[in-house]
Amino acid sequence: MIQITLIGSGNVAQHLLLAFNKNPDIEVVQVFSRKLESVSHLISIDKITDRFDDLAEADIYIIAVTDDAIVEVSSQLPFKNRLVVHTSGSASMENLNDNNRKGVFYPLQTFTKGKEVDFKTIPICIESQFNDDYNILKKVADSISDKVFMINSEQRKSLHVSAVFVNNFVNHLYAIGNAICDENQVPFEILQPLIKETADKIMSLSPNEAQTGPAKRNDKTTIESHLNFLSDENHKNIYKLLTQSIQDNGKKL
Ligand SMILES: NC(=O)c1ccc[n+]([C@@H]2O[C@H](COP(=O)([O-])OP(=O)(O)OC[C@H]3O[C@@H](n4cnc5c(N)ncnc54)[C@H](OP(=O)(O)O)[C@@H]3O)[C@@H](O)[C@H]2O)c1
Repeated sequence: MIQITLIGSGNVAQHLLLAFNKNPDIEVVQVFSRKLESVSHLISIDKITDRFDDLAEADIYIIAVTDDAIVEVSSQLPFKNRLVVHTSGSASMENLNDNNRKGVFYPLQTFTKGKEVDFKTIPICIESQFNDDYNILKKVADSISDKVFMINSEQRKSLHVSAVFVNNFVNHLYAIGNAICDENQVPFEILQPLIKETADKIMSLSPNEAQTGPAKRNDKTTIESHLNFLSDENHKNIYKLLTQSIQDNGKKL
């Protein structure tokens, strides 16, 4: 039985807690939360603490707090030489305090409290200072996910930057599309099958192979008429920049 303490009670901590609770090989011994009520629906109240001094012994301490608080929280832990990991995509493993053995347990998915996920399909990127710790992190990751990767801090940063492009930026482009539909009284749902197919296509083709549209075809008349149609300067600039990027990418191939 691997004993885990979760530090934090936000999106990631709650999803990890749900996944660990379903696993007979893992026991969540404690959750540190500044607001006791945040996780009281997921674990009994006597296992929740808001005092670092009350933290009991565990095999792994998973710090799932905001990126900016990782340094501060890891330096407040009142013990030494235990395995302490964070869950961030962008923070280096070195951000953790030297008092303890360091590691990373980064689940690469977008989590929101209350929105169910299937952990088995979520890639977990792990890293550790010491080999023995890697083995225990791998055991925990394997027990909740079918996709576990050994990824160092630099590689993790590159994944995180890529994730901003493929998730946050793409979603923002959906928001722009939605706004343009609204301005022209067209239901956004007409575009939903296209959005689905675009995402499905890159499961079997590379994104460059899957690219279509006026920029890829260098359809100058259409591009010009789209730019004339757009009234928002910001949307015009994004359209121009992405058109240029698609065309530059085409030249490189
Ligand atoms: N959300 C995602 O999709 C996602 C995916 C993968 C990895 N991550 C990473 O996972 C970590 C947690 O993200 P999240 O989305 O779960 O964040 P979140 O929902 O905003 O929750 C943050 C947690 O950190 C606690 N916290 C903040 N500052 C603290 C401090 N100084 N001392 C103690 N606790 C503090 C908050 O406590 P209070 O409630 O008391 O403020 C809250 O429990 C981050 O490193 C993030 O990069 C997030």
